[in-house]
Amino acid sequence: MSNNLLAGKRGIVFGALNEMSIAWKVAERAVEEGAKITLTNTPLAVRMGTTNELGAKLNAEIIPADATSVDDLQVVFERSMEVLGGKVDFVLHSIGMSPNVRKKRTYDDLDYGMLNTTLDVSAVSFHKMIQVAKKLDAINTGGSIVALSYIAAQRTMVGYNDMADAKSLLESIARSFGYIYGREKNVRINTISQSPTMTTAGSGVKGIDNLFDFAERMSPLGNATADDCADYCIVMFSDLTKKVTMQNLYHDGGFSNMGMSYRAMEQYIKGLDEYRDENGNIIYG
Ligand SMILES: NC(=O)c1ccc[n+]([C@@H]2O[C@H](COP(=O)([O-])OP(=O)(O)OC[C@H]3O[C@@H](n4cnc5c(N)ncnc54)[C@H](O)[C@@H]3O)[C@@H](O)[C@H]2O)c1
Repeated sequence: MSNNLLAGKRGIVFGALNEMSIAWKVAERAVEEGAKITLTNTPLAVRMGTTNELGAKLNAEIIPADATSVDDLQVVFERSMEVLGGKVDFVLHSIGMSPNVRKKRTYDDLDYGMLNTTLDVSAVSFHKMIQVAKKLDAINTGGSIVALSYIAAQRTMVGYNDMADAKSLLESIARSFGYIYGREKNVRINTISQSPTMTTAGSGVKGIDNLFDFAERMSPLGNATADDCADYCIVMFSDLTKKVTMQNLYHDGGFSNMGMSYRAMEQYIKGLDEYRDENGNIIYG
């Protein structure tokens, strides 16, 4: 159902790979709410994924770009202003990738070259994107920039690996740049910390099925879906949240404020033995 929350607004959506992508749902909802958008993803993702289908469905131009390349980002913002007919009002950063996770390198055996890539793709790209936009003056006064994060930025979630460090940096960039862009241009910058979600990136996380189930049971409202996340992004892009900036906004059914539930406690004590060595010491799991 549309409430025309984004009527007349222009936006750029980074990171729609396939129908499961959170960015895919955001793009669909944004257009439903009256926005005109462009889509962007890596040239490889555009070739291999189904972004083209989404572009055709939403009448949105696709601008291939590696979000770690400042030159590519410049093209994204310049071309978007051209095809959309003016400065943009909102931007979604929905990008994450860790070669260490992909190669199953554990956190105590990281490859540092890969760590640099994780941080560049998943966090520094956010800084680059905002810096490029600001230098080009590509975002309207009162505009809104959102990136997607995860609670592993604050709490240790075993298996999330170096993506946890990337998310901490991502959230910090939202605060640091949020101050500057807010003071100078009234542009808001926030991160949304989303529940575990079954997507291509999500399925790369070690033990995602169990993590998904655990979070579902621990959260009083259950996990937030990609569609729920799209709704939240629309509100953050709309004029209903004009004074919200520099925040990490939990969108997780209440999970982030849970400590322990009776059900989790009962389950926990049933299965401790497999995490002990022959001397009874607790081992890494
Ligand atoms: N799935 C989850 O459980 C979950 C939970 C919280 C937050 N998030 C975050 O949501 C965001 C979107 O992920 P998703 O779950 O929709 O998965 P996804 O795999 O659909 O999206 C990740 C996107 O990042 C893009 N990408 C990778 N490298 C890039 C680069 N160099 N330049 C431009 N784009 C690049 C991919 O092509 C892909 O479209 C990510 O930031 C992810 O960390 C996901």
